[in-house]
Amino acid sequence: MLPGFGSLEASTYVPSFSRKAAKMADKWVELMQGQDTFTIDVPAWTARATLWWVLLAPHSAFGIDLSSVDALGEAAFDYQFNALDDMSGELTKVFNNLFAKTRLNPGNWEIFVSQMVALMPDNLVRFWNENVPDKKRAFLIRSREASERVARQLVEEKSAALLAENGGHDIMSLLGQRDRGREGQLVPNEMLASFRRSSLPGTRRPANTISWILLELCRNTDVQTRLRDEIRTVRRQRDEPELTAATFDDMPYMTAIVKEILRFHPAIYNMHKEATRDDIVPLSHPVVGTDGKPIHEIPVQKGQKIILSTAAYNRDTNVFGADAHSFNPDRWLKEGYVTKQSLGVFANLLTFGGGNRACLGWRFAVLELSAFLVELVDKFEFSIDPKLKIQRGAVGFMIPLVEGEIEKGSQLPLQVRLAPSTD
Ligand code: HEM
Repeated sequence: MLPGFGSLEASTYVPSFSRKAAKMADKWVELMQGQDTFTIDVPAWTARATLWWVLLAPHSAFGIDLSSVDALGEAAFDYQFNALDDMSGELTKVFNNLFAKTRLNPGNWEIFVSQMVALMPDNLVRFWNENVPDKKRAFLIRSREASERVARQLVEEKSAALLAENGGHDIMSLLGQRDRGREGQLVPNEMLASFRRSSLPGTRRPANTISWILLELCRNTDVQTRLRDEIRTVRRQRDEPELTAATFDDMPYMTAIVKEILRFHPAIYNMHKEATRDDIVPLSHPVVGTDGKPIHEIPVQKGQKIILSTAAYNRDTNVFGADAHSFNPDRWLKEGYVTKQSLGVFANLLTFGGGNRACLGWRFAVLELSAFLVELVDKFEFSIDPKLKIQRGAVGFMIPLVEGEIEKGSQLPLQVRLAPSTD
């Protein structure tokens, strides 16, 4: 495991995550203005609340040690609070529905053009971007420029002071070290490129996953009630001013729900890989070919592109039980129900990938999801208008869409009311 990404470092973030979730909850209460129920479009709020990962990456990239949580957290949260208070911030505007605006339901021509552009050399792509009118590409470029501008501005403000204390444990340095060997150093432009490539998409994953959790809690009201009971019992027993990672250890049902949602609605539904050498991939269960014969292994050639379906693996009945297609957090509480596999970094799931390119932020993501879940379900009851049909939209990651309003992009309007006190 890479230093800087361990449980200890991740757990120091929990109070910050919890404050962020509580702040979002306070905003909702303000908006309710004494009404009994209020409709909240969940993705619009969670995207703003978790936007700080966008800033975490450039901070880290330029030398803030991940263990300096106070400096890092406060700097990042200054910006994050702006996002929650005000939707007009530059980054907030460009990231709002970025992927839905640019990737949802592309037509045949768009798919063809994007594949052609991907094959072009860099200078031709630059020419294309600068000269060919294309609204979606222009929006993507504007988003990229905005994130770079903010990143560079933060670098100027902070890096001089913090670079001197850099122990090389920040996200981008670690990625760079792994990719280039211990002596290798990334220069700022490469760090920005690396940030765009790997960390930027990571900003939306926790936000989307929170939407799916709340949706499943609306569909499964018994799960929601049982979860609230657990949260309130544990909080009463522990009587702590703020959440810590240890609080979550006392909440097995909440932990089971987080695992189940990461299984049932993996934010990244598939992964693209390329074979680095000729190899044979053995299959744990044979599949039947078109000729009716069983296939036990698949030969791959160096350079061959492979798409791994996380969504399919996560619902494999051989691993997760006969009811793998249902949302059932209890599967995680029954010994032996989920077959143990040496796959993935968390709970046998493929959700965070696996091997040496697995998600570096998975511990942060799990703790962030837990903190949001605890704060929100403690305070509110969630329900959904039964007439609304929510469907999944694939834009590189999975977003919730309202049937009949797909053109509006990511949406999940839920009815929210204050959960009655049990004291
Ligand atoms: C629910 C939340 C998240 C999910 C589902 C998720 C999932 C993934 C997946 C599937 C990959 C690719 C793995 C592979 O190719 O094998 C990945 C890579 C990555 N993720 Fe996450 N991620 C999440 C949150 C985060 C967060 C919060 C961070 C913040 C630091 C993060 C940082 C990264 C980085 C840096 C990589 C690139 C790793 C590399 O190239 O070596 N992720 N993530």
